Amino acid sequence: MPDMLELINQIKQLKKEKNAIILGHNYMEYGVQLVSDFTGDSYDLAVKAMKTNADIIVFAGVYFMAEQAAALNQDKKVLSPDPNAGCSLSDSLDVETLKKYKEMYPEAPVVLYINTSIYTKALADYIVTSSTAIKVVKSLNADKIIFGPDANLANYVERKTGKKLIKVPPNGRCIVHANYTKQLVTLARKKYPNAILMAHPESPLEILEAADFVGSTNQIINFAKESPYKEFIVATELGMINALKIQVPNKTFYPLVTTEACACARCPYMAMITLEKIKRSLEEEVYEVKVPKDVAEKAKEAFERTMKILS
Ligand code: 13P
Ligand code: SF4
Repeated sequence: MPDMLELINQIKQLKKEKNAIILGHNYMEYGVQLVSDFTGDSYDLAVKAMKTNADIIVFAGVYFMAEQAAALNQDKKVLSPDPNAGCSLSDSLDVETLKKYKEMYPEAPVVLYINTSIYTKALADYIVTSSTAIKVVKSLNADKIIFGPDANLANYVERKTGKKLIKVPPNGRCIVHANYTKQLVTLARKKYPNAILMAHPESPLEILEAADFVGSTNQIINFAKESPYKEFIVATELGMINALKIQVPNKTFYPLVTTEACACARCPYMAMITLEKIKRSLEEEVYEVKVPKDVAEKAKEAFERTMKILS
């Protein structure tokens, strides 16, 4: 089996031969981040995909991210190294459930978190990320707003905007962030007294209230870069420590949960994307992500509507 450096060199060669780029999510394993042309959060990477002249885009992230890049870039070949890399949030909301909620509350705008399938996105009015949800919800002039599928993010948005959201489903959770407790924070603060706590908004409200900074994966990186602090406890998926080590090398990061303490520290879906699978993806040009044109158009409209609010 080739070692990591050998694989990275082979992948770089394949990228050149095929005029391909790799977009890697901030939670990817170390080697995958090194071989990526761009790393970032799900939305940022989808936008990066729109700006490239490459013939092939390999999306090193979970499936909903690759699907969304494909929907926003209908003219490009988007490959997922492993289409089975799902997401507990994305899996928790199906088209039928969302349609029922839309029938129950016909006046309510539908705001969906980016961690959803493209088919549900096509039924939404707005698509938000953890960094944009508050601004978008605040801007809506509506008594009732349907919001899904992350109940933790919904609770946080309610707290920050003072608006009541109709959660669909009522209890959608990320299987990684759902494990964080106040007790873990107390232990980490005791162990690392000079560190401040950064948390992703998929975490339970009690963690977000205890955190010194709350933000998306990109916002966490930027905050760590600019902060005068040197040590940080990181309440999000373990791969994030790779992104922080690469992009903020002069500071120290401690995960709130390590794999020694709980296998749940690492997202099992993100972990499915490996250098070996990326190499195969480039060699055999698999697995192409196809989104029906009408579905892609509808999802794109919801994105564009959201971007107008944010601009
Ligand atoms: P970001 O959009 O903040 O990168 O988060 C995506 C995700 O899946 C978090 O678990
Ligand atoms: Fe989904 Fe959670 Fe994994 Fe992110 S970390 S991809 S929200 S299961």
